[in-house]
Amino acid sequence: MKVLLAGATGTLGVPLVRALVASGHEVIGLSRSPGKGDMLRTLGAEPLVADLMDPEALLSAVEGLKADAVLHEMTALKKIPTRHRDMAATDALRIQGTTNLLAAARLMGARRFVTQSFFMGYGYGDWGDRVLTEEDPFAPPGQDAFERDLAAMRSTERQAFTAEGIEGIALRYGSLYGSGGATEPVIEMLRRRRLPVPRGGGGITSLIYVEDAAAATVAALERGRSGEAYNVADDEPVSWGEFFGTVAKAFGAPQPLEVPRWIFRFMPYARAMMMGDHRISSAKARRELGWTPTAPTYRQGIPRLAQALGG
Ligand SMILES: NC(=O)c1ccc[n+]([C@@H]2O[C@H](COP(=O)([O-])OP(=O)(O)OC[C@H]3O[C@@H](n4cnc5c(N)ncnc54)[C@H](OP(=O)(O)O)[C@@H]3O)[C@@H](O)[C@H]2O)c1
Repeated sequence: MKVLLAGATGTLGVPLVRALVASGHEVIGLSRSPGKGDMLRTLGAEPLVADLMDPEALLSAVEGLKADAVLHEMTALKKIPTRHRDMAATDALRIQGTTNLLAAARLMGARRFVTQSFFMGYGYGDWGDRVLTEEDPFAPPGQDAFERDLAAMRSTERQAFTAEGIEGIALRYGSLYGSGGATEPVIEMLRRRRLPVPRGGGGITSLIYVEDAAAATVAALERGRSGEAYNVADDEPVSWGEFFGTVAKAFGAPQPLEVPRWIFRFMPYARAMMMGDHRISSAKARRELGWTPTAPTYRQGIPRLAQALGG
């Protein structure tokens, strides 16, 4: 297929370009920055420069281009989100950005559209031992502080699923780790003992090694069913304390500083992420997409990360 990938230069975007090219797809890689053109060409993609939030510029950039499918893989996160306002620009990419990208998809004649959000879309609470599947309500209204973020996740999925003449598919990733993006700053924070974890390890999270997230995305593009969402996480949810402790060990950094849980009161977004238990099942993606993670747990993924970064 010929694919327009929005977010081609991101943490997930870079391995995703490689995985798409390796599977025989032709990739047009979107970026706001002309300076990233050489990097995209080296990866095997044709660069396209436009800002997704500027619909006129986006539509004129894609004019005359054809694509079979469009992938929305963007965030606007400059750092790990700790406060609600850190999510505002990413929320806009999911709402208005999806609208703009669907307009571009139509202009290009695309018939498939893959979007994404993440496991916190099931709700920012504490799910305890419950393993969340795609049968559970997604982005349920009623969580006042997080309503804007949940509405954005609802919006991108709804827009993709209801777009006329387009097969829409949604992925709900676990926390991505891999080279690029937030991982290197996290390792640096661990080295300086500046990454606090709640005493006792905090909540349980669902993880996914970035190369496996890329493979699942290719599988969804090729085999995902229209109107369906797929969770994408590895097989072993783990506490943040255990995960960061294992990363620290692999990179020769000291063990993370444990702090009293009340400190997270001042970082509401981080508290929701790091205190609650969020286990998601990817059985549907395995079954329907024929996808299997090559790093089934963080114990396989972290050594690969260390190898990739020379840790
Ligand atoms: N990181 C995680 O733990 C995580 C977890 C679950 C789900 N996700 C989801 O997975 C997707 C990929 O995340 P990521 O971590 O790879 O993101 P990332 O590293 O922050 O990359 C951001 C990408 O979005 C592009 N972008 C941002 N604003 C844009 C705009 N206005 N117009 C055009 N392009 C724009 C950037 O392109 P340029 O800067 O080159 O313009 C870049 O390619 C995101 O949608 C995210 O929500 C991430």
